[in-house]
Amino acid sequence: GAQAATVVAIDGPAGSGKSSVARAVARELGFQFLDTGAAYRALAWLILERGGDTDDPATVIGALDSLDSLELTVDASGQRVAIAGHDVTEAIRSERISAAVSGVARTLPAREAVNVRFRAIIAEARPGIVAEGRDITTVVAPDADVRVLLTADEAVRIRRRFGDVGGDERQVGARLAARDASDAKVVDFLSAAEGVTVVDSTDLTFDETVEAIVRLVTEESHD
Ligand code: DC
Repeated sequence: GAQAATVVAIDGPAGSGKSSVARAVARELGFQFLDTGAAYRALAWLILERGGDTDDPATVIGALDSLDSLELTVDASGQRVAIAGHDVTEAIRSERISAAVSGVARTLPAREAVNVRFRAIIAEARPGIVAEGRDITTVVAPDADVRVLLTADEAVRIRRRFGDVGGDERQVGARLAARDASDAKVVDFLSAAEGVTVVDSTDLTFDETVEAIVRLVTEESHD
């Protein structure tokens, strides 16, 4: 018979390495992978493409008409993102989009609309899915089999995210901190909800972090 899919929910701040860790966990388990931030980024991209302002709630709500055209593949080897017929997989990673995306994430009707899509993707996942974002453990998939809050000290996150950026480091660090502060006003991803396991990767390598989460999934399936 068809066994229920295993759902792994991972939340955490920017630069926690969440995306790469979640993708590696999915690959190791043979699961699908969903980067939910990509949906917010694709909407931000579309709004800027049309000359709009993501800080204007009416503009963001207007852009939700295009949500039907959002394509999110859930292949663990690399998620492809398209909206309104444009492949935006690369474009949504730009600093321009990072700076504009909080406005979308702050708009509650946008959150509700993308969450409907995420829940449908999760419901269809086989044999399992790793979904990462800011509110997966709490709002999108509170019933997930494994729920993880992935954290790391801010200095470590900045270094991992930007490498050796020299003189720019303070500026990019400030930008990252500002984005976290803005995002945290919408969903609290800085403290773990009940039943959520905190994985602090500050002193872990990438592989150790992946293994820690894979172990949680394997332990869970033996219960
Ligand atoms: O993880 P990311 O940097 O790609 O996220 C992009 C933006 O979307 C960021 O401002 C946080 C927001 N986001 C959110 O509010 N809820 C999610 N589940 C995922 C992302």
